[in-house]
Amino acid sequence: MHSDIKQVLYPEEQIRKRVRELGQTITQDMAGEDVVLLALLKGSVIFFADLIRNVASHIRVDFAWVSSYGDGTTSRGVELKVFPDEDLSGKTVVVVDDILDTGRTLAAVVHKLRSEQSVKDVKTCVLLDKKARRVVELEADWVGFHVEDFFVVGYGLDYADRYRNLPYIGVLNEHCYQTEDAPGEAGICKDHGVE
Ligand code: XMP
Repeated sequence: MHSDIKQVLYPEEQIRKRVRELGQTITQDMAGEDVVLLALLKGSVIFFADLIRNVASHIRVDFAWVSSYGDGTTSRGVELKVFPDEDLSGKTVVVVDDILDTGRTLAAVVHKLRSEQSVKDVKTCVLLDKKARRVVELEADWVGFHVEDFFVVGYGLDYADRYRNLPYIGVLNEHCYQTEDAPGEAGICKDHGVE
C-alpha cells in the first residue's frame, strides 16, 4: 500500500498539530453556541474523530452520508444518501468534511441544512482545501491545509474506498487510478499488492 504513494504531503505529526489548532479555534469561535458537529461520511471519519477530541466545550455530534459520483477522481454530482433526522432547529451546525474540492458536496449539504432545517447557522470545517478545482463559489470557515491540484489519499481520504487507513496524507501514483483518458479497473495497483 505505501509503495502506491508518490509523495507524502502531510505526515502524521503535522496533521496532529494542525487538527489540535483547529479544535482550539473552533472552541474559541463557537463559545456560547449550541453546536452540533456534523461529519460527512465516509471521508471525514478519521479527521472528525481527532477534531472533536480537540474541541474543549459541550458539543453534540451527528453524521450524514454523502457520496459524490464521477470517474473516481472527479466529482460530477452529489447524492445525499443518509441525512440526520435529528432536530437541528436552533442549533449551529458545523459541517466537517475531509476535502473541499469542486465545492459541490459542501454546497449541497449547506443548502439542504439551510432550506430544510431551521438551524441557527451553518459553518464549515475542512481538513484540506483544493481551491484550484472549485466550480461552486464556497469558502470554508476553518481550513486545515491548502493543497495543490493533486489527487490525495490517506487519513480517511480514499481512492475506490482504499487507502483511508494510511496514517498520513499523500499523493497517489498516477498509475494507481484510471482517468477518462485512460479508463481501467479500480484498484489497478494489483502489482503493488493492493489486491
Ligand atoms: P467536492 O468538493 O468536489 O468533493 O464535491 C467531493 C468529495 O470528493 C472527494 N475528493 C477527494 N477524495 N482525494 C480523495 O481521496 C482527493 O483529492 C479528493 N478530492 C475530492 C471527497 O470525499 C470529497 O468530499
